[in-house]
Amino acid sequence: MSGDARKRAEALAYLSGFGNEHSSEAVPGALPVGRNSPQRAPLGLYAEQLSGTAFTEPRAHNRRSWLYRVRPSAAHPEFVRTGNGSLRTAPFNQAVPDPNRLRWNPLPEPEPGTDFLAGLWTLGGNGDATQRSGMAVHLYHANSSMERVFSDADGELLIVPEHGGLLLHTEFGLLHAEPGETALIPRGVRLRVELLDATARGYVCENYGAAFRLPDLGPIGANGLANARDFRAPVAAYEDVEGPVEVVNKFCGNLWTATYDHSPLDVVAWHGNYVPYVYDLRRFNVIGTISYDHPDPSIFTVLTSPSDTPGLAGVDFVVFAPRWLVGEDTFRPPYFHRNVMSEYMGLIEGAYDAKAEGFVPGGGSLHNMMSAHGPDRETFDRASAAELRPQKIDDGLAFMFETRWPVTLTPHAARAEHLQQGYDDVWQGLERHFRPER
Ligand SMILES: [Fe+2]
Repeated sequence: MSGDARKRAEALAYLSGFGNEHSSEAVPGALPVGRNSPQRAPLGLYAEQLSGTAFTEPRAHNRRSWLYRVRPSAAHPEFVRTGNGSLRTAPFNQAVPDPNRLRWNPLPEPEPGTDFLAGLWTLGGNGDATQRSGMAVHLYHANSSMERVFSDADGELLIVPEHGGLLLHTEFGLLHAEPGETALIPRGVRLRVELLDATARGYVCENYGAAFRLPDLGPIGANGLANARDFRAPVAAYEDVEGPVEVVNKFCGNLWTATYDHSPLDVVAWHGNYVPYVYDLRRFNVIGTISYDHPDPSIFTVLTSPSDTPGLAGVDFVVFAPRWLVGEDTFRPPYFHRNVMSEYMGLIEGAYDAKAEGFVPGGGSLHNMMSAHGPDRETFDRASAAELRPQKIDDGLAFMFETRWPVTLTPHAARAEHLQQGYDDVWQGLERHFRPER
């Protein structure tokens, strides 16, 4: 399965820029020329617009695509409620918001036959999906490919695989995402996740707010951080399937199901700027000090979901990628800090330079608004005494979902067996060195 599946996803176009128009057709001539909805779309296809922003949002932020499909999306039966599994949605108000620093081990093994959707487990989040603000942190652990199709009306899905490759069958075509890459599925875009390995594990940021985009670069200039040309969009590919297909729709926090008489992944051609994509985090162009001190970790921002206050993100996606440390007279691991923003961190591979142990791939930590954190004692002692030669950090890939609102846990995350006990201990034993009398 793996060889063929991986090969099928090789035909990828590169997005040359966010907000720019892209197009792709699986059958030559399927895209109409010169108009979006001609009286008769080519090849007997139906024309359909998918709007990710209000019609009237400024051109620079406007996101929409035109899809040319075998059947219009409107041709579906009634949706009925189905179980939500371990998926939860904002507002998160069942557990008391917790000021403590928290850390989890990886999710336990899933039951046999758990697909990506069933394998989603919500840690917590903030905001309100019905107000299109805030975000949720989910983890997933799956051992079965999806037979059904999923779409999320509540938000876009930023998928961060940590173990196991994924072949994402979307309305726009195939995307292939391996650990070390991140995939984004825009709000409402239909998706079926095929596993390329026996199991798949990772993280998902469900962003209810404004669509993720590249951050402005300011004095950095025209290049740097995540470069637009490295974002891969799919080429059009469609399923010509007649027969029952289950479609699950997440809407205002609940899952609804309907059985279609055809596959809704039947888009033969598309154009627009509302498009799923994949990005290889190792392509991140890390900017850092070449004199002294750390720039703040905002310098590692891959994607940002802006709010109505300039510079204040609903959520940022930040990566701690391999890089050189060369700062003179500088404490090199992340400094001690308290932050008005709330930080959920995950680890894709290797180790993270602020923690000696306990923060493992597939696990995660939550440092909520104003909680004090930073290097553990072992890391502090080592870094304070280290000889400051240029040093390459190349044995780890960590990331952060950093959000303007505190993250409130789901009850199942607050009492999970894989929630670590005694995380506070990593900051014990930081000795007093201040001796004014000397
Ligand atoms: Fe932090």
